Amino acid sequence: MTDLAGEVVEAAQGRLVRRGDLVELRSHVPANREAFQRWYADPEIAALLRHDQEPLTAFQSKGYFDTFILPLSARGWCYAIHERAEGRLVGTTALTDVTNRDAGRSALFRIVIGEKDAWGRGLGTEATRLAVEEAFETHDLDEVRLEVFSHNPRAIAAYTRVGFVRTGEHVEWVARRRLELRVVEMALARGDDGETPEAVFQADGDRDGWVEGVEVGQETEGADRASRSPAIETKRRADDSSTVE
Ligand SMILES: CC(C)(COP(=O)(O)OP(=O)(O)OC[C@H]1O[C@@H](n2cnc3c(N)ncnc32)[C@H](O)[C@@H]1OP(=O)(O)O)[C@@H](O)C(=O)NCCC(=O)NCCS
Repeated sequence: MTDLAGEVVEAAQGRLVRRGDLVELRSHVPANREAFQRWYADPEIAALLRHDQEPLTAFQSKGYFDTFILPLSARGWCYAIHERAEGRLVGTTALTDVTNRDAGRSALFRIVIGEKDAWGRGLGTEATRLAVEEAFETHDLDEVRLEVFSHNPRAIAAYTRVGFVRTGEHVEWVARRRLELRVVEMALARGDDGETPEAVFQADGDRDGWVEGVEVGQETEGADRASRSPAIETKRRADDSSTVE
């Protein structure tokens, strides 16, 4: 691509952050707002990532995009996911809630492939891998952690393939729906040698036992331990603004 063509793409689609075989991570641009709002209005997607299980209204998602997603992306912590072949915007991913824990500097990973026809084609796995590389190589983090509902085996399989391992589980009560949510906690640490772990590059994590298997009694580490320990026994009230993406 010529420099000029690259500049035109960057102006329309956002700055290129990281490129994989299937997807590119780019900074978000205001033009992404419409797709973002459509994804967050989808009940099926809400059930996979929102702790309150509720889709966002247009007002809520506009506020979320304008006040959280765009600024976070401008600072290099949130990325639009584009299919590499056509450049189509398919999702969003982010590193948030950076905190110091026993493992070092740690961020919470979030992702949603909002275009449902793009599910199950490897895009989410690669986008996860790219975001993790960004965490370790650009932001010099020591750990990336995430939360995923136990009723989301596709996400658990993708994370496991990238190298995430389960560190705990807790239960949340969604009062409005009289629903109990099982939330699996996973983490991926930077290799002891300071390099990104091999598993991230090979993307061949072992996922045996993840969907059905639930280990009881593992504690989460660090700052949020007090509110979640022991992991499986703790019930946390769903926070209306909270997501696992
Ligand atoms: C979760 C998500 C990011 C995964 O991305 P994706 O592109 O659909 O997933 P991939 O194609 O990369 O990988 C899916 C994996 O799940 C597996 N899978 C698919 N359906 C499955 C099922 N019902 N049970 C178990 N595994 C399943 C696939 O085989 C694949 O694993 P493999 O590579 O080991 O074979 C994406 O589906 C998404 O954004 N969903 C909606 C929002 C969401 O769930 N966000 C995550 C919140 S924590």
